[in-house]
Amino acid sequence: MKKVFINGYGSIGKRIAKFILDDPELQLIGIGKHTPDNTINKILSKGLKIYVLQKKLDKFKDYKISGSIENAIEECDLVIDASPSGCGFYNKKNIYDKKNVMVIYQGGETIFGNNAISDLIFNSTVNYDQVKDKKHVIQGSCNVTGMGRILNPLIIKYGKDLLRFDLTLIRRWADLEDDKTIVKDSIELVNNPHHANDVISYLGKKIPIFVRAIKVPTRQMHVHFLDVRFHHKVPDISEILSLFKNKYGIAILETAKNTKEIRDFAQSTKFNFKDTNMIHIYSMFVEKTEDTIKICYSDDQTGIVIPENHLLLQAMLFKRNYDDAIQHTEKIFHMEQKKKLLEMHFANYT
Ligand SMILES: NC(=O)c1ccc[n+]([C@@H]2O[C@H](COP(=O)([O-])OP(=O)(O)OC[C@H]3O[C@@H](n4cnc5c(N)ncnc54)[C@H](OP(=O)(O)O)[C@@H]3O)[C@@H](O)[C@H]2O)c1
Repeated sequence: MKKVFINGYGSIGKRIAKFILDDPELQLIGIGKHTPDNTINKILSKGLKIYVLQKKLDKFKDYKISGSIENAIEECDLVIDASPSGCGFYNKKNIYDKKNVMVIYQGGETIFGNNAISDLIFNSTVNYDQVKDKKHVIQGSCNVTGMGRILNPLIIKYGKDLLRFDLTLIRRWADLEDDKTIVKDSIELVNNPHHANDVISYLGKKIPIFVRAIKVPTRQMHVHFLDVRFHHKVPDISEILSLFKNKYGIAILETAKNTKEIRDFAQSTKFNFKDTNMIHIYSMFVEKTEDTIKICYSDDQTGIVIPENHLLLQAMLFKRNYDDAIQHTEKIFHMEQKKKLLEMHFANYT
């Protein structure tokens, strides 16, 4: 059994803790907490152990703390860092490097510039085998994971026939459980979104990828508009849809018209955290022009990266091959069953 420590118990950390507890091959040592607040008793009531930085122990003296993060890390085989964007860099410098421990970081970290913490962003459908011998790897952000999942099959099938990809990312303002962020009644333009360079880092530059992003006042998923431009002959819509039909983590929804109805269905079906863990192609909105296929899909912001973390962990900790890892992840997340339920619910029976 491998021992895992989670540093950061927010939207992502909570979900990661759940799968570690569900996986009989893993033991959760505990979680790293940084703010002494009223969430602590709730976390303790779940039977989880809380650790804090050595220098902060005093601030937490009124709570039942199991020890320091520094000591907890010495006991574990792998850390999953789920700290706020950019904090992973400092955690690496101040804690992980000193303990010489294997770490998975989240998509708010970077592989570029002075704050780079790894040389690789993970996407299970693209570079699973490349992470087996790495010590520090970033799990791509939700948008980057979704883009990789949809672009990679197109690149593999159409290769040189592709002229370029143009993506517009409509990003959600805040997460479902985030009660701190005020969702502003505004549309925010995003300068130089990191998503383009992140996705190019693992898909390569052979086919140009143009990305623009805006943030809109919703908590209900991201939506991406993808224009796939071809040099000459454009495939039929049915061919494009059949390309994605059996792909991991992609559901094709025939009647869906908005993100909330998908989330509501996930809730009614009692998926953990209301997550679908996948992207959803709105097939009614897939169109063809003389040189372009236009695809629209939504991306389950928090959910999509959770099974990815599980796959990444299996590559790094167990050096497992891809097919076996997918099978094991399936036992924990039931992605195929969720996909089937979603596709049946949003099927066009007329
Ligand atoms: N939310 C999403 O949809 C999403 C999707 C994909 C990727 N990501 C990425 O995942 C990471 C975490 O995002 P999140 O949405 O889960 O953030 P979040 O909800 O704000 O949670 C982050 C948690 O980290 C804790 N924390 C604070 N300082 C820390 C430190 N120095 N080291 C470790 N933990 C610390 C905070 O808890 P306390 O201060 O209370 O202890 C907080 O609960 C980011 O890199 C983000 O870009 C997020």
